[in-house]
Amino acid sequence: MEQDLEKLRSSAAEDIAAVSDSRQLEAFRIAYLGRNGRLSALMKQLGTVAQEDRPRLGKLANTVRSELEKLFSDKIVSLAGQAVRAERPDLSLPGRRTVNGRVHPVTQVMEEICSVFAHMGFSIAEGPDIELDYYNFEALNIPAHHPARDMHDTFYIGESTLLRTHTSPMQARVMEKQQPPLRVIAPGKVYRCDSDITHTPMFQQVEGMLVDKHISFADLKGVLTVSLQKIFEKELAVRFRPSFFPFTEPSAEVDIECVICGSEGCRVCKRTGWIEILGSGMIDPEVFKMVDYDPEVYSGFAFGMGVERITMLKYGIDDLRLFYENDLRFLSQF
Ligand code: DAH
Repeated sequence: MEQDLEKLRSSAAEDIAAVSDSRQLEAFRIAYLGRNGRLSALMKQLGTVAQEDRPRLGKLANTVRSELEKLFSDKIVSLAGQAVRAERPDLSLPGRRTVNGRVHPVTQVMEEICSVFAHMGFSIAEGPDIELDYYNFEALNIPAHHPARDMHDTFYIGESTLLRTHTSPMQARVMEKQQPPLRVIAPGKVYRCDSDITHTPMFQQVEGMLVDKHISFADLKGVLTVSLQKIFEKELAVRFRPSFFPFTEPSAEVDIECVICGSEGCRVCKRTGWIEILGSGMIDPEVFKMVDYDPEVYSGFAFGMGVERITMLKYGIDDLRLFYENDLRFLSQF
């Protein structure tokens, strides 16, 4: 029995060295220290040995038990240490990347337009989205029941308040506060009760106005031609077509050569080679009178453009709705 205990001791030392995870350690415990394990089996033989050998062998068996228990508990500690070491961060690993957001394409183009005019000496004014009927219509020479109101598909909020249908009310707001000479643009959101492939109920415009003594239609043509060429980053052809707006006289709609087909004629320009890009005109004397400017002394021009439309043309986007669906596959291209 003494020999058996010695064998058990050495084989346990060998086996514990090979243990490398908690599953193997548990198998070791069952094999050596378990109720039906090898040590228990030897202990059971104690009763069969000679009376005088029993105390010595009993003591030896207890020593072997404590040794096995120590092997077991030391292994628990060393395995735990390995696990902690395994969890320590590896500083040589590349970091996790965060996804950067981007400025919305319409906002980017809005900022470009503002920057083009800022370089030409225009300052920037902002006004309320919820506007008085007075500024949206009356002050722009569009009295109640004027047929021009029909074109605006207005969202009314109350008797005299509405969501502005264009940025033109900023003309009256700016001129009420400032005296000429002035050069101002007013970017912002506008709203119309209209929604289909080419219209969204909210869209963005940039309004512009320039007032001084001796401003002529030639100034309007010069400023708008140069700024459109800057906005589209191209020496494109620009043409002025007679039109009508109640707040300008004379009025002109401005076309640029089709940037999609290079004036060859395509679906976007309806085969004309030209694309309408903004409305403009010489500020009507009636509008000046509303803000107490003397039309005999001052003259000026105003213009308004749609930012989504310009963005679509700049980037060749053919569906307005893409701007408002927030699809990252679309937005991350800009
Ligand atoms: N407010 C007009 C619109 O939304 C655009 C416009 C036309 C603005 C002529 C102007 C202008 O300042 O002179 O359709």
